Amino acid sequence: MISSLLPSLLLLALGACASEVDINGRASDAACSLDQTVAPGNLTHCPDGSLFATWRPKARFIAPEGWLNDPMALWQRSDGSFHAGYQFNPQHTQWGNISMGAAHSKDFTHWTDFGSWDNAKTIWPSQVYDIRGVFDGTVFQNGFDGYPTILYTSTYTTALGVGVEIPGSETQSIAYTMDEGASWIKLNFGEGGNPVIYEWPMTNLTGFRDPYVFLSPRLSTLLKGTASTTNATGEHFLTISSGVDGAGGKLLLYRQTKTGDVTGWTFLGPFFETALTESWSSYSGNFGTNYETASVTRLNASGAALDDGSDATAQDFVSMGTEGSRADHEFHWPLWVAVNYTAQANGSVAAQPLYAGVVDWGRSYAFVSFTIDGARQVSTGWIYEDDESLVLTAQRGYQGAFSLFRDLYLKVIPNVDPSMAGLYEPGYWGVNNASVIHPFRRNALQPSDLL
Ligand SMILES: *[C@@H]1O[C@H](CO)[C@@H](O)[C@H](O)[C@H]1NC(C)=O
Ligand SMILES: *[C@@H]1O[C@H](CO)[C@@H](O)[C@H](O)[C@H]1NC(C)=O
Ligand SMILES: *[C@@H]1O[C@H](CO)[C@@H](O)[C@H](O)[C@H]1NC(C)=O
Ligand SMILES: *[C@@H]1O[C@H](CO)[C@@H](O)[C@H](O)[C@H]1NC(C)=O
Ligand SMILES: *[C@@H]1O[C@H](CO)[C@@H](O)[C@H](O)[C@H]1NC(C)=O
Ligand SMILES: *[C@@H]1O[C@H](CO)[C@@H](O)[C@H](O)[C@H]1NC(C)=O
Ligand SMILES: *[C@@H]1O[C@H](CO)[C@@H](O)[C@H](O)[C@H]1NC(C)=O
Ligand SMILES: *[C@@H]1O[C@H](CO)[C@@H](O)[C@H](O)[C@H]1NC(C)=O
Repeated sequence: MISSLLPSLLLLALGACASEVDINGRASDAACSLDQTVAPGNLTHCPDGSLFATWRPKARFIAPEGWLNDPMALWQRSDGSFHAGYQFNPQHTQWGNISMGAAHSKDFTHWTDFGSWDNAKTIWPSQVYDIRGVFDGTVFQNGFDGYPTILYTSTYTTALGVGVEIPGSETQSIAYTMDEGASWIKLNFGEGGNPVIYEWPMTNLTGFRDPYVFLSPRLSTLLKGTASTTNATGEHFLTISSGVDGAGGKLLLYRQTKTGDVTGWTFLGPFFETALTESWSSYSGNFGTNYETASVTRLNASGAALDDGSDATAQDFVSMGTEGSRADHEFHWPLWVAVNYTAQANGSVAAQPLYAGVVDWGRSYAFVSFTIDGARQVSTGWIYEDDESLVLTAQRGYQGAFSLFRDLYLKVIPNVDPSMAGLYEPGYWGVNNASVIHPFRRNALQPSDLL
């Protein structure tokens, strides 16, 4: 993905036969390389793809060409290396026919495409249930026949979104890999196969996508004392990002019906929910009308907390993208929320907000995180382009990149004066035993990785 070779290869492919065009009377293709010592002229006259190398990020995970949006299928492979998938529309500079492209890395810095730079798709629309698009998904271990397995959103051609969506537009489907992510096999269509989650658990949903599958000794332990009415006991939990028309965002909690079966997922209840366009504080964005791309994590001062609830210094979090409550930034907020879990009598869990904040104030969205090395919680998100009106999009020949990969951990500031003004107001921090606590991030790259 990050390779100095690729831009020149693509320029050759896209630019070699482009005809000479006039840019304010100057020679054509050469001027499209943007000589920064002279005024650029009208670059909209440059041929498609001719500005491919001009502003292309060099230290970011980025598709080899074409459209990229959300990160998906972040997963540590059996050899310790990392798999990163992304929403991809190759040979197009705008969203459509959305598929998963993917690459792998040992260091979050140098990435190798699966397939080749001009064919990096590993999952694409091919079945009646996902013919409209392969949306975000999560990879989990010990899946189908023990192989790493993705649960992804399979979409059909019916309308998506607020007030128009019907059950069956977005369903959840399974594919597994026998070669560590190079290729994926979808389950057969129908009973006992794909899609594995197709019924809406409540009516009037505004979305039903982006399943986040996770292991949680914390939730399993919390639920041990309850008399589950659903009888689901599987080791994996999952959330589906959603909302109810006119009522606000909802994160829906499911549990694997029984360990080892990737086709059975039982709805437990709403996990986290907010009122329509609710806001926690002026530091915390807005929860909008519908959630997308949620993650569930537990952090302590060194990173991922994998305890069963016994680590008193650990804190539970959910994060999500919210839609419909921002005038700019493509109408999106990327948010996180520190939560307090309460086991429900029927074997579900409800999460109450303790404090909340914005994951990144820049042009970014769809952050997801995953656990690596049994100790680190690593996050990345989608950075979208400044060129919102698509003025030079065709000339660039690509859109979108990931943020740098970031380690998440708790920042604890001890010995805070309890009389400090504003300390107990709603904000992006919590107060516990005279310590102020909030989640923090640092780049997952070590400086030595960049040498
Ligand atoms: C640049 O060229 C385009 C296409 O001909 C035109 O629509 C636009 O107005 C021009 N922009 C400027 C600043 O001249
Ligand atoms: C979508 O992508 C797949 C895989 O590359 C391809 O087979 C299919 O023809 C594409 N569909 C459309 C409508 O472009
Ligand atoms: C909400 O759901 C009910 C029950 O399924 C249905 O009758 C109604 O038409 C739905 N409303 C909208 C706006 O989709
Ligand atoms: C759960 O198990 C109990 C006891 O076997 C049974 O009565 C109940 O119907 C089961 N619930 C579901 C949803 O299968
Ligand atoms: C479990 O109870 C909660 C309320 O405590 C409810 O919202 C949820 O729908 C219930 N789950 C099921 C599967 O009935
Ligand atoms: C954080 O949790 C991990 C995993 O549960 C544990 O190994 C580590 O010691 C904890 N770190 C701190 C600072 O408590
Ligand atoms: C968390 O919820 C429990 C009830 O499940 C409650 O007793 C406790 O006070 C809550 N903790 C915080 C920090 O709100
Ligand atoms: C509160 O912090 C102090 C100083 O770090 C420590 O000695 C004490 O044990 C803490 N109390 C609790 C209840 O965690």
